[in-house]
Amino acid sequence: MYITMYFCLSSALIESQTCLVGNQKECAENETVAVATQYSVDVANQWARSIENMHWLHDGHHSTVMSQLEAVHRRSNVPPSQMKVVDIACGEGIYARKLSDRFGYERIVAVDKSRAQIDTAMNRTASSRYPDIDYHQMDVPIDTLSAADIESLGGPFDIALANWLFSYADSKPDLLRMMEWTNRLMKPGGTLIAWTVAVEDLRDADEGVVKNSKFRIEQRFEGENGKKEEGRVWQGENEKEYVCSIYSFNTYETLFEIAGFRDVHFLEHHEYVAGNELSNCTREERAMFDELITWKGCILKVFTATKL
Ligand SMILES: C[S@@+](CC[C@H](N)C(=O)[O-])C[C@H]1O[C@@H](n2cnc3c(N)ncnc32)[C@H](O)[C@@H]1O
Repeated sequence: MYITMYFCLSSALIESQTCLVGNQKECAENETVAVATQYSVDVANQWARSIENMHWLHDGHHSTVMSQLEAVHRRSNVPPSQMKVVDIACGEGIYARKLSDRFGYERIVAVDKSRAQIDTAMNRTASSRYPDIDYHQMDVPIDTLSAADIESLGGPFDIALANWLFSYADSKPDLLRMMEWTNRLMKPGGTLIAWTVAVEDLRDADEGVVKNSKFRIEQRFEGENGKKEEGRVWQGENEKEYVCSIYSFNTYETLFEIAGFRDVHFLEHHEYVAGNELSNCTREERAMFDELITWKGCILKVFTATKL
C-alpha cells in the first residue's frame, strides 16, 4: 500500500502512531486514528459529519462537478441516458446518488478501496430508488484491470469522476499509475473530472491558516522547515485532519499526457460554482466558497481531461 492519507484527530497522533515500512505506511487503527484508505466505520462517519459541518465547502465541491457535467452534456450528442459513468474513490456514494438524481445515466459504477465506505454507500443507496448504481470494492491501481475486468464492471465508461483519488498518490510514479488505471476504464473521447490537491505555483500556497480563520482550514507542508514543495501536505478542515499529496499543475499535465489524456484543464476561478438549485447554502456561504476557491493560496482544485 502506498497511500498517504490519514484522517486523525490530531497531527501529533499521526506522528506518534504512523510507522513507515519501506515505502509503506501503516497506522494503528483505533477510535481516533485510522488509515483513511481503509476508512474504518469511525472514519467513514467522520467524513459524513464533515460533509455536514463544512456543508458550504462540500456543497461547492458537488456543485462544481455537477456544473462540469452539464457542460459535457451540452457539448455531446449522446444523451446521459446512454452514458456510463464510473465514480472512482466514491466514498459513501454521495456523487453517485446526486448523478443518478440529476442526469439519469444508463449506469453508474462506483468503486472505493474501503469496505466500510462501500458498505455505508450501499446502506445509503436504496436499490429500489437507485437500480442504476453498482458498488464495488477496488484498490486503485493495485487491483488489475484486464479487458474482462473492465467488461465485468460494466465499462468502458463515457465519464470518470475521481474526486480526491489522485491526492492519495504518494509519489509521481504512483500518480502516473493511478492516471493510467483510470485511462484504461474509459472510452476514447471520454471525460475525466476530479477534485484534487494541486496548485499552479507552490509559492502561492498558504502555510498555516488558509486566507482567513473563518474558513476553518489550515495546511502545512511537510517538507523540511515547512518548505513548500511537492509531496506531503497536512490539512485541517474544521475537526478533521488529513495528510495528502500535493503536485503542481505542471506535474499533473505532464503525467496526464503520458497516461494518454489530452486537454488537461484546471478550472479557472469563474468555473467553480458555489451552490445550485439543489443547494441549501445561504448567500453568505456561497460567497465564502467563492472567496476561498479563488484565493491564490487555495490548493483544492478541479481539473478535467479527455481520454485520447
Ligand atoms: C475524501 S474521500 C472522498 C469520497 C468521495 N469521492 C467524495 O468526494 O465525497 C476519499 C475516498 O477515497 C478512497 N480511496 C483512497 N485511496 C483509494 C484507492 N487507492 N483506491 C480506491 N479508493 C481509494 C477512500 O477510501 C475514501 O473513500
